[in-house]
Amino acid sequence: MQTNHNEPHNRHLGWRYLVIAVVISALAVAFLYAAGVLGEKGVTAQKFVNLQQGRSSHPGFRRAHAKGMCVSGEFESSGALAAYSTSEVFQQGSHGFVGRFSIAGNNPTAPDLKAPVRSLALSFAFNDGQQWRLAMNTPPVMAVSTPEDFFQQLVALSPDAKTGKRDPQKIKDFFAVHPESKDFNAWRASYTPTNSFADEQYHSINAFYLVDGQGNQQAVRWAAVPNASPTLELESNTADALRMDLLNKLKNGPVSFDMVFSFADASDDESNPAIAWPNERKTLTAGTINITSSEAQTNGACDGIRFDPLILPQGIEPTNDPILRARSAAYAESYRRRAREQLLGEIEGVEK
Ligand code: HEM
Repeated sequence: MQTNHNEPHNRHLGWRYLVIAVVISALAVAFLYAAGVLGEKGVTAQKFVNLQQGRSSHPGFRRAHAKGMCVSGEFESSGALAAYSTSEVFQQGSHGFVGRFSIAGNNPTAPDLKAPVRSLALSFAFNDGQQWRLAMNTPPVMAVSTPEDFFQQLVALSPDAKTGKRDPQKIKDFFAVHPESKDFNAWRASYTPTNSFADEQYHSINAFYLVDGQGNQQAVRWAAVPNASPTLELESNTADALRMDLLNKLKNGPVSFDMVFSFADASDDESNPAIAWPNERKTLTAGTINITSSEAQTNGACDGIRFDPLILPQGIEPTNDPILRARSAAYAESYRRRAREQLLGEIEGVEK
């Protein structure tokens, strides 16, 4: 009878392969989870930006708020917030900025008047190298409080693969299981888009802390409140109606907004961007934004700026709102894509 001297050795090898296979599988699962491929918790910047850019991305453009125009001007600070924050921006005086008006969506040639959301973003750069970037939208609150739920909201809003159209039932169903969208839907029901970028009100939505010299924190939200009286007639009925209107208004002088800060009290949850704060909250006007000039996005001063809400100067700090981190990561991913395309000359030939 022959004995197999290799048998114990083979059995040993079998176990080794099994252990290696288990370790590799565990690593693969962990990798897929971290990459956001598995599980609801795994929304990533890449998944957000894939969804936002949709099937036909526009090379060289922002993957959200793709259509816009650069503006610049001065913020005249009243000094009213200097006691609450050490930031230079709140010291009385004049602070220059580069900004951008935009409409939501991924299409850089979309008709201005069809967009559900309009936006104003500002970027301040101070002499000591500090910066403040802020992006504001027309709604005062988000519909949901977490990146995961916002992702599902975007899924519900995405066009159906077969019809190419949105399914209103899907978004209805989404809101039905998200009662926290109550404040957003109340705003939506009462909101009528204006005829101009200049007479909209724009909101920070997310809250931040003002921090004074002693380290005291005060949670705030802010709004750019228009000084322009309502624009009764549309400037034009073309796809660029809002841009044409702003260009005309700027010929007659600055377009201005007051920067009004609302102060949270102990009963407000500053980490939840879906819940409106009561109107009775204390407010202070930090100063006036005067927009004095504009230029096209193409090669404009705002094109290379991503308005990442976590780029903050000393004296302004983020709250624990998880949306802020998700935004920061998504803006970087969108920027990475468009910067690469611009570098390689893969830019769509349309006016930005
Ligand atoms: C998780 C939630 C959000 C995600 C994933 C998201 C994603 C994005 C992305 C990818 C961009 C393009 C960035 C670039 O290429 O520079 C963008 C732009 C923008 N977002 Fe958001 N966003 C979110 C929430 C918000 C909220 C709450 C606001 C409200 C203040 C907001 C306001 C804006 C504005 C104003 C712009 C255009 C900024 C500009 O002019 O470049 N976003 N967003």
